Amino acid sequence: MPDRAAVIAALDAVTDPKSGQGLVAVGLVQGLVVADARAGFVMEVPAGETALYAPVRDAAEAALKAIPGMTRVSVVLTAETAPATKSARRASLSPQAVDQGRPKAPVPTDRPAHVRRVLAVASGKGGVGKSTVAVNLAAAFVARGLSVGLLDADVYGPSLPTMLGMSGKPEYRDGLMEPHRVHGLKAMSVGLLTQASDAMIWRGPMASQALTQMLTQTRWGTEDAPLDILVVDLPPGTGDVQLTLIQKTPLDGAVIVSTPQEVALADARRAHALFQKVNVPTLGLIENMSGEVFGRGGGKAEAARLEIPYLGDLPLDAALREGGDAGVPVVVSDPDGEVAARFAGFAEALAKKLDLKGFQTQP
Ligand SMILES: Nc1ncnc2c1ncn2[C@@H]1O[C@H](COP(=O)(O)OP(=O)(O)OP(=O)(O)O)[C@@H](O)[C@H]1O
Ligand SMILES: [Mg+2]
Repeated sequence: MPDRAAVIAALDAVTDPKSGQGLVAVGLVQGLVVADARAGFVMEVPAGETALYAPVRDAAEAALKAIPGMTRVSVVLTAETAPATKSARRASLSPQAVDQGRPKAPVPTDRPAHVRRVLAVASGKGGVGKSTVAVNLAAAFVARGLSVGLLDADVYGPSLPTMLGMSGKPEYRDGLMEPHRVHGLKAMSVGLLTQASDAMIWRGPMASQALTQMLTQTRWGTEDAPLDILVVDLPPGTGDVQLTLIQKTPLDGAVIVSTPQEVALADARRAHALFQKVNVPTLGLIENMSGEVFGRGGGKAEAARLEIPYLGDLPLDAALREGGDAGVPVVVSDPDGEVAARFAGFAEALAKKLDLKGFQTQP
């Protein structure tokens, strides 16, 4: 049976590309779990460096798998909240500060034309599976017969071009951008409008300008064929950029994605506080990467504490990651599978909360 020392030695033999040191020595191995024939940990890297560290994650998984007797391994790569937003978050967005906060002033928003509902998918921290949930949830709405748009507003690391397998600048027609049509939905990403590397350094005003443009200058729907629901994948975190974006967006509700770990749950709390601050109802919490490695149940308990609906959990499932890498959401590639069934449940609950019942426009 593999022991902890063997696991640590194996991980420290993997080199951090930036410092040249071993992963353990440099502090990249967090929340290490070693139990029976399983091992897993979280590798938290600076915002914007998840691409650099993806091969390191793979190397760490390979190193763990090479340990005799190890059968299940999982290394989750997460991004730190962008540095520019951290102090602002601490200063103004503790849940207490929000509770005692200023009166909730209505903020002018730019409502996109011919869009019935706008739903944000948010998380307090990066790498918890927000984009994975946004993509598969959108696909689940499509499966319900709704007309669906998906907007990637993640200025720190737009991932929908990869997750949906789309590329190329959007076409302009009659003064509006045409969304990409992929997997039965209409999609637009900040990654299609700019080089990914530029996106990483965006600050509030530029980010919100880009978002406004994608919201209001994209042909999401037409008078004859309105869009039933627009799912917005927000950048992770609860800082100024996120606040600006959600103030600018006419949201009808938000879904918060979290992992079972305590640290991620604290971030979920802040995300909920952020939506409270702008009077957007949190329609549910989804616990992602739930299961043997990271535990389960934390999301449900947290949702009860926050008095928000708990939508359910999603298992740590290689197919979800592979679907994202391959550009085909699991809900599309395996519509009868267990993961698709979970998303169908989330979509049904959310459609009810958003009063989308009567809107099934397709057969
Ligand atoms: N349930 C799951 N099982 C296995 N892998 C998952 C699961 N959910 C997400 N992943 C993988 O974890 C990584 C992070 O997921 P994703 O990109 O969806 O997170 P995110 O919160 O949008 O991250 P970011 O903050 O970088 O935008 C991806 O490689 C994804 O495929
Ligand atoms: Mg993402």
